[in-house]
Amino acid sequence: MIVLGFESSCDETGIALYDTEKGLLAHALHSQIEMHSEYGGVVPELASRDHIRRALPLTQKVLDQANLSLKDIDGIAYTQGPGLSGALLVGTSIAEALAFTLNIPTIGVHHLEGHLLAPLLEENPPAFPFVALLVSGGHTQLMKVTGIGEYKLLGDTLDDAAGEAFDKTAKLLGLDYPGGPAVAKLAAQGEKGRFKLPRPMLNSGDLNFSFSGLKTAVLTLANNNDSDLQTKADIAYEFQEAVTEILTVKCMSALRETGLDQLIVSGGVGANKRLREQLNFATKRKLCHVHYPRLEFCTDNGAMIGFAGALRLEAMTQNMNNNHSFTVRPRWDLAELQTPSAN
Ligand code: KG4
Ligand code: ZN
Repeated sequence: MIVLGFESSCDETGIALYDTEKGLLAHALHSQIEMHSEYGGVVPELASRDHIRRALPLTQKVLDQANLSLKDIDGIAYTQGPGLSGALLVGTSIAEALAFTLNIPTIGVHHLEGHLLAPLLEENPPAFPFVALLVSGGHTQLMKVTGIGEYKLLGDTLDDAAGEAFDKTAKLLGLDYPGGPAVAKLAAQGEKGRFKLPRPMLNSGDLNFSFSGLKTAVLTLANNNDSDLQTKADIAYEFQEAVTEILTVKCMSALRETGLDQLIVSGGVGANKRLREQLNFATKRKLCHVHYPRLEFCTDNGAMIGFAGALRLEAMTQNMNNNHSFTVRPRWDLAELQTPSAN
């Protein structure tokens, strides 16, 4: 089954073709970062308009890459939520209109399920069950995953997400949007030991997180010190150490508590090099295995949506919705998802 995947929940238009027999056939992405950077963050209306401009040319691009035409597609998967409602509506309505004209089924995919399953697109994917760390701009969650749609929440952030903390710290340090890669780049020039930041909830005895205090501590450091580049780099270094240490310790606790030995990491912060170093080291010591998506599939992309949608469409051939009415779900709890066969 060949599935066309559409991602348009925020500031990236991602389109891909996934074949349930041959794997990923093609993918293409347009990032709006440059357009939004002028405003220091995503402007929803501009995002929607840009998705309109990009969706069909990118669709043609992946078809060309895979040497296929529209009639070869067996189904369409699109991000139905959570995300910006206007941006979601663009992807959703284009996908449904296309599917209507082609008379093929569609599936609305949960954006976080896309992220969560993205590591399975790689070679030697882990088999269920595993622990998943989902670290994106809006979420920091630990989950026990026993199958598609079987996601048991083990821990969550009580306030800011890890990616959000990176973005806010970047702003405090006068760095560009998106903050994660900018903080990581600056941290590489930072010196160990000059500053010490707290590790909130490190020893809380549960698997929850809290990052907003860290951001306030960064603000205090920034206000009490010179604003030269080296000082900023030293703050960025310590901030990254604090976040990655907390994430690593909680992942190891989740593996211990569940008795599982496989961890997958997904979402934008999963691209962070220091986080990967720490997780690789910690899991190796405990004879566990950690899996990541390739760097470009940590952040938003169409491949993860095509993949998650294909798995669901394949399992759902009986009861799928072919009437092409649609709605978006800007707020959507991952825990509401069910296994595809139960749909
Ligand atoms: O998963 P994603 O693309 O979007 C959401 O669904 O939220 O994640 C974006 C987040 C942003 O907060 C960004 O700053 C962060 O991931 N990020 C990183 C890195 N690359 C992206 N954070 C730390 N280090 C990175 N290398
Ligand atoms: Zn995302």
